[in-house]
Amino acid sequence: MILSMIIAIDGPAASGKSTVAREVAKRLGFKYIDTGAMYRAVTWKALRDKVDISSEDALTVLARHAEITISELEDTRYAVTIDGEDVTEAIREPKVSAAVSSVAKLPGVRATLVKKQQGYADIYPNMVVEGRDIGTAVFPDADIKIYLQALPGERAKRRQRELKEKGHRIEVVSVERDILKRDKTDSTRATGPLAKAADAYVVDTTEKTIGQVVQEIIGLAKKS
Ligand code: CDP
Repeated sequence: MILSMIIAIDGPAASGKSTVAREVAKRLGFKYIDTGAMYRAVTWKALRDKVDISSEDALTVLARHAEITISELEDTRYAVTIDGEDVTEAIREPKVSAAVSSVAKLPGVRATLVKKQQGYADIYPNMVVEGRDIGTAVFPDADIKIYLQALPGERAKRRQRELKEKGHRIEVVSVERDILKRDKTDSTRATGPLAKAADAYVVDTTEKTIGQVVQEIIGLAKKS
């Protein structure tokens, strides 16, 4: 019987983390935590309230006072709120994607959100947590660490498809440029950079279906 288990899923932008993490959480009956949504929600609020996006102090205060919720709706759909406002769709807008990495690199913002993320472990014994620094910094003792990767061209195609479904028509080259720029900022920052934990299991999703990747992770969870 599983008493308590944390599955950490990290990887670059649009590598399939969210889709896979949600499905794994659903099948195992675990709580799903999308840490990217937390950085996105803080960024959305800063942009909406015209907070100086380069001010670490202002953004840290915003993050500290923000009440962020990620709640399950049905069938692997999740709602995200910040201070009572539903931002599920708004946080995926291209303008939030363009600004989020410069907010997420600020040590004060990271320290605040990482603390909130670690606090979830006191409430939920079993979790699937996805992000950039989960296996390295947030939960370095996670039971299972996965690093998902895929070729940039494939990631750009997937993200373009998602954006199109939401009514944003953006050229695939431009989507690729954006995700590579974000990856660079995320992997070169001093605090909690995007990195594969030494003991992470690497899964390349370029030529795999969601079902195959989910199965692989569930197999690891059952073995552990
Ligand atoms: O879904 P996508 O791969 O585009 O990104 P996301 O998971 O929603 O994360 C958005 C951004 O939040 C990332 O590009 C990072 O800048 C930041 N992030 C982070 O710094 N640390 C995390 N644990 C998760 C996200």
